[in-house]
Amino acid sequence: MDLTALTQKVIKAHDRQVKLSRRLAKVGYDTAVGKFLRLVGYYREGFMLLKAWRDFLYIRKEKIGDTFFAVDQAIMHADHDQVKRLMHVEPQVRGNDLGIIRILAPSYLLNHPLSLGMNGADHTGIRCVFQKALPDPFEQTDLIGRYVDDFLSAATKREQLHIGDDLPRFMVETLHQLVFQLSLSEEEVKASLAYIKGLPLASIPNFISRYLLGFMTGPNIRHREQLIQKYQNSPNWDSYLEIGKQYQLNPNQIANGLFDMIHIAGTAGTSALLGSVIGVLCLNEALRSEVVVEANTVWEDAKTFNGEALKRATMLHSVILETARLYPPVRFVSQLATESGEVTIGSQKCPFQKGTRLLGSIFTANRDALRYDNPDDFQVTRDFSDLLSWNGEGHERVCPGKSLSIELIKIFCLYLFKDYQWDQFTEVKWDFEKVTAVTPNDLALQGFSMSSQRLSDPTQSLAKHPE
Ligand code: HEM
Repeated sequence: MDLTALTQKVIKAHDRQVKLSRRLAKVGYDTAVGKFLRLVGYYREGFMLLKAWRDFLYIRKEKIGDTFFAVDQAIMHADHDQVKRLMHVEPQVRGNDLGIIRILAPSYLLNHPLSLGMNGADHTGIRCVFQKALPDPFEQTDLIGRYVDDFLSAATKREQLHIGDDLPRFMVETLHQLVFQLSLSEEEVKASLAYIKGLPLASIPNFISRYLLGFMTGPNIRHREQLIQKYQNSPNWDSYLEIGKQYQLNPNQIANGLFDMIHIAGTAGTSALLGSVIGVLCLNEALRSEVVVEANTVWEDAKTFNGEALKRATMLHSVILETARLYPPVRFVSQLATESGEVTIGSQKCPFQKGTRLLGSIFTANRDALRYDNPDDFQVTRDFSDLLSWNGEGHERVCPGKSLSIELIKIFCLYLFKDYQWDQFTEVKWDFEKVTAVTPNDLALQGFSMSSQRLSDPTQSLAKHPE
């Protein structure tokens, strides 16, 4: 669709949202009629977003303002200041939403809410379990390095590293090792990746998702059930159980929380960001040279391959943060309004009801010209102190995997750029239309092999595999 036609469509749909806000004030937000009307809005706008998410956001932002309605009569906040303020609301009341996506088929998640959808003591408890389960990357640098090196060395046999196919595989395997000390079989890895790809099926009404589309959802649900059982055989399981019990969480809640932590937050988010970092470094030769120099300097003496050395890779650290600003893997955060009120949308005052979703658009906030000079340019010298990509800092809902994901990406890149090489790479392109992961999914490093430096002098390698 050309931009003019899309603009008309997106604005017309917003006019309907404004009318709906007044209608909902009359018929009630959570009555059967209210729910139905919101659901119609959700799917109608959802389909537009699926096909043209960035244009959708920018059309509304430019034509209406930084606050506008979207999908199920949610109030979208699109600038840095508002999103940052929303993130700091405490305590935060959540519905079972994955950013903009509403989980309408709880059966896909074995009827357990996402941790994002938990509130109160349950949420505090599951976060304590996450904290116990997530390793400190500065203490486990060497171990993570070995996983990375084994994975990259296997890719040399295929003579290719494929961003969209290989990185999620690496992440799902590595997180199961780090969190549970469990290896997944080839079939289990495939099934886990199919589960992640199938997540949009959780946003279809339960009956349709579970039964009419059972041929698609059934295998994914069964895989989840099997892994939930498998987790309980992990040597780490008892320690998670002990913490969870202190918050009255049962074994199923704990295992399901960890399943989502690994699959949704950990694998999908980190592989997308890692892919973007590799994409940025493929495109920017000067930056890549600086990263290679840093990799060589940091590990001049391979014996110092530890957390302290990792902290010295400051250039790569900034590259990761700036990439996360421009290509945030999580694009929306969501919470519920605790009171009814009135919101100014464009030039109009519109009523909103208690329970209305308040969405923060991280993508547009990260490119807000009032916060970042030349916001679309890649600049590693920016002030990242209030970067929103990991849900900000210093409040109850920040991403618990922030440090692990950054350091893991750093370790991956240090190996990749120090010990490996490739003959050519395919086009680096981020898809800003289809609402898939923001990463150059189709990028492949072809002719992938170990660097000649490592082959000629393996003692200079970062890898120190035990005999
Ligand atoms: C090892 C990798 C990661 C793990 C294990 C992880 C884990 C999690 C978990 C468990 C939550 C839910 C917290 C809660 O319910 O209170 C969360 C939230 C979040 N994560 Fe991560 N994460 C990882 C990587 C990332 C990456 C790479 C990004 C983006 C750059 C990211 C951005 C976020 C954001 C924005 C939220 C808040 C979402 C919301 O409140 O709706 N995470 N993460």
